[in-house]
Amino acid sequence: MPPVDWAYLWGTKGESGFGSRSTAQDVTEGIDLSSRTAIVTGATSGIGLETARVLAMRGAHVVIPARTLKAAEQAKSAIISELPDAKVSTGELDLGSFASIRTFVDEFKSLNAPLNILINNAGVICRGLQLSEEKMELQFAINHLGHFLLTKLLLDTMIRTSEETRIEGRIVNISSKAHAILTDSTDFQKLNTENRMSNWHPTLYAGSKLANILHVKELSRQLKERRANITANALHPGVVHTQIFRNLRPAIQSYISICSLLMRPVPQGAATTCYVATHSRVNGISGRYFEDCNEATCSPLANDMALAKELWNFSESFIEARNKN
Ligand SMILES: NC(=O)c1ccc[n+]([C@@H]2O[C@H](COP(=O)([O-])OP(=O)(O)OC[C@H]3O[C@@H](n4cnc5c(N)ncnc54)[C@H](OP(=O)(O)O)[C@@H]3O)[C@@H](O)[C@H]2O)c1
Repeated sequence: MPPVDWAYLWGTKGESGFGSRSTAQDVTEGIDLSSRTAIVTGATSGIGLETARVLAMRGAHVVIPARTLKAAEQAKSAIISELPDAKVSTGELDLGSFASIRTFVDEFKSLNAPLNILINNAGVICRGLQLSEEKMELQFAINHLGHFLLTKLLLDTMIRTSEETRIEGRIVNISSKAHAILTDSTDFQKLNTENRMSNWHPTLYAGSKLANILHVKELSRQLKERRANITANALHPGVVHTQIFRNLRPAIQSYISICSLLMRPVPQGAATTCYVATHSRVNGISGRYFEDCNEATCSPLANDMALAKELWNFSESFIEARNKN
């Protein structure tokens, strides 16, 4: 089955007035972000780089943390070469290492900078079992746990910024429609246990993307309880022609290249992220899931608040336990 983005091919538009063919520039047209600071993870390529470029184009101060400073600087140069006045900062961040996440956050906090928007975009698809520094399956570690810790450590800065500026803070998790592949909570719970560290399963990527949605469900509940002026939402960007498939077998990669005309180009692939992160129509909307720049329905499992709480507790205790080692 070729990787086809049917929504993009049909060109559907929704209530927001935007749709699968809208670009990140379209959805941010006329939006002034000159008083906003945004961190975009995974902004060295694909959807993240285009998101960072468009937020910078609208005046935001964009922070690009990447696995190497060189990669972050290259992304910054690419943006500055087109937008010489863009405000772009760089940092070093490996989401597969809790120590690296803590160092990045310490450095960011030492600048005393505000933080209005956090875009948890970085992601990987792995072929076979690989482990993070903390010996967790790498897709779950980078796609979910790393962003879980990053968000947790930056939350006080976001709350302070929203209080001082009276501007709503926004946390955006880039999930995937693939989250719906998992339909049984026991399968997901099994993946959540120590099994993740010793067994490979093709649904692990889907599980990490389900975790991205469950994360914002529980986070949003907690933010409402704290009366914080911050929203947290998740989204599917479309089937986008990027380097996300780079770790798959060469034959599959060649097949995906051939199918690339059936996939969404990157400017459209970054549209839902930019819409959810910046548009006034999304004011006050939290704990929801978006596709094609409109609110959409996620799977029943992704709406399971008990499962969201369970994942939250598991993530906290895993991080806590590794902290003590
Ligand atoms: N493309 C699609 O069809 C599609 C569909 C649904 C969801 N998504 C999601 O969209 C997001 C963006 O993916 P993309 O399609 O734009 O792919 P991409 O071009 O491969 O971008 C992935 C980004 O994540 C970064 N990253 C990977 N491992 C990291 C780590 N350990 N620490 C920090 N950064 C790391 C990569 O940096 P390096 O260059 O250092 O590796 C890169 O900047 C992902 O979360 C993906 O799951 C994509």
